[in-house]
Amino acid sequence: MSSRESEITAEVGQEPLLRMSGIVKHFPGVKALDGIDLEVRAGDVHCLLGQNGAGKSTLIKVLAGAHQPDGGTIRWQGEDIRIVNPQAAIDHGIATIYQELDLVDGLTVAENIYLGHERARWGVVARTDANRSAAELLRRLGHPEVAPDVEVGRLPAAGKQIVSMARALSHEAELIVMDEPSAVLDQEEVARLFGVIRELAAQGVAIVYISHRLEEIREIGDRVTVLKDGRTAATGLAAAETPTSEIIRLMTGRSIEYVFPERPERQLGDTVLEVSGLSRPGEFHDVSFTVAAGEVVGLAGLVGSGRSEILETIYGARKAQEGTVSVAGRRLRAGRVGAAVAAGVGLCPEERKSQALVLHESVARNISLASLGRFARGGFVKRRDERRAADDQVRALDVRPADVERHAGTLSGGNQQKVVLARWLLRQCRVLALDEPTRGVDVGARSEIYALIRDLAAGGIAVVVVSSEIEEVIGLSDRVLVISDGALLHDGPADEIDEHQVLDMVMEGDAA
Ligand SMILES: Nc1ncnc2c1ncn2[C@@H]1O[C@H](COP(=O)(O)OP(=O)(O)OP(=O)(O)O)[C@@H](O)[C@H]1O
Ligand SMILES: [Mg+2]
Repeated sequence: MSSRESEITAEVGQEPLLRMSGIVKHFPGVKALDGIDLEVRAGDVHCLLGQNGAGKSTLIKVLAGAHQPDGGTIRWQGEDIRIVNPQAAIDHGIATIYQELDLVDGLTVAENIYLGHERARWGVVARTDANRSAAELLRRLGHPEVAPDVEVGRLPAAGKQIVSMARALSHEAELIVMDEPSAVLDQEEVARLFGVIRELAAQGVAIVYISHRLEEIREIGDRVTVLKDGRTAATGLAAAETPTSEIIRLMTGRSIEYVFPERPERQLGDTVLEVSGLSRPGEFHDVSFTVAAGEVVGLAGLVGSGRSEILETIYGARKAQEGTVSVAGRRLRAGRVGAAVAAGVGLCPEERKSQALVLHESVARNISLASLGRFARGGFVKRRDERRAADDQVRALDVRPADVERHAGTLSGGNQQKVVLARWLLRQCRVLALDEPTRGVDVGARSEIYALIRDLAAGGIAVVVVSSEIEEVIGLSDRVLVISDGALLHDGPADEIDEHQVLDMVMEGDAA
């Protein structure tokens, strides 16, 4: 018996740190939680799994005091408690890192970390103090480069995630809930995050960890709870001993092969996108590549390597200082989104929630937004056509609930992702740039997204995909480009490179 197991055995019979029983939560027209049970022990990393819309975020919002449950009990350190608001959760020692980060863009890193703390009440005097302790926390997280006095709005997605983590740590919590923290991190950052999680667990802090990446569960998890359709499908499973196939079966009720579509014979059309000598100081330097009609090109690299900036420059949202972007042989005017869109370039951005989704509009409208021209006549939108097109996409991507009239803001995180993706898949582009297309999407829907991307390419579109998951870049693409520190290190066929080679390149910054 391993020492870990004997510890677990020794704990049997003891009161767990947290026991949620029979938790029920309704939203208008939806029973999001239908009697959920969850038990978490001190010092455990407890993984919460389930398909998009299963109820994970809703459950942890109940625990965080952001939602009031309609039924059930919460027992914390042996006492029944009610968590009436977010401050109450923090006072009990429960800190939460949300899926949609709730930072204030206009405040500095340190101000965000200490927002709502007693410390903040000391006002100006506390500022240097707050900066100093923020710097200490960020160092502990392995991110000394994040400056405490910089405005949060200026940080990239991964930087914001780190600030959110630092804030959770600042509360000296006994339970930290993390809702898909790895979704915005690259492999190196996930490794660092896991280091922090292990350290916290060793100190007796409990972690509830949500992720759609099943391999992470195996690496970091002690226990697993699987939710399905607002119910607990299984709870307290040993993470190390439960086979992945079993977890997928519990999540989906069926067994899914997690596969990439077959690469077609390479019958490429003409070059559609040509990027030549593209540079932006401090972001990327002298990047050149082409993408042909029917081709899927994947960009691999760490967060901050310049991947997303290259896509945004192609789209005209950033202006190149040097170099050119051409579509079908015609040079685009630098820094003009309008010119790029007119030439048939589409970009599905990384931060979809803030950049792309209109939360109070219907799913149908969100999907048709980029293609309104197609559904408009004489200044009116042809609602029936709009609805039908949206319906098709919702079905193809398995958006749940499959109701295009629903407000986008009421969908779960992963389903919101699918809606924005659907918008770009519906739009008829010549060049489609996708930044992290499967972020936050569950295992079931992933394969469908891969197949759709392949179909688009087969229809003659030139596709460029950025992903932090190297396996995905290789599996999905015809050609792989590797970016490190703003430089293009490698450009070659996807079937001639493996995950380790790409990882070596992005870590070491050397061409293979
Ligand atoms: N504010 C809300 N109003 C109405 N319905 C909601 C609201 N928040 C969540 N829901 C619904 O509750 C259900 C559970 O959503 P939840 O966000 O908890 O899923 P999740 O498991 O976190 O999924 P994901 O993996 O996509 O993040 C979904 O059907 C969702 O549409
Ligand atoms: Mg969620």
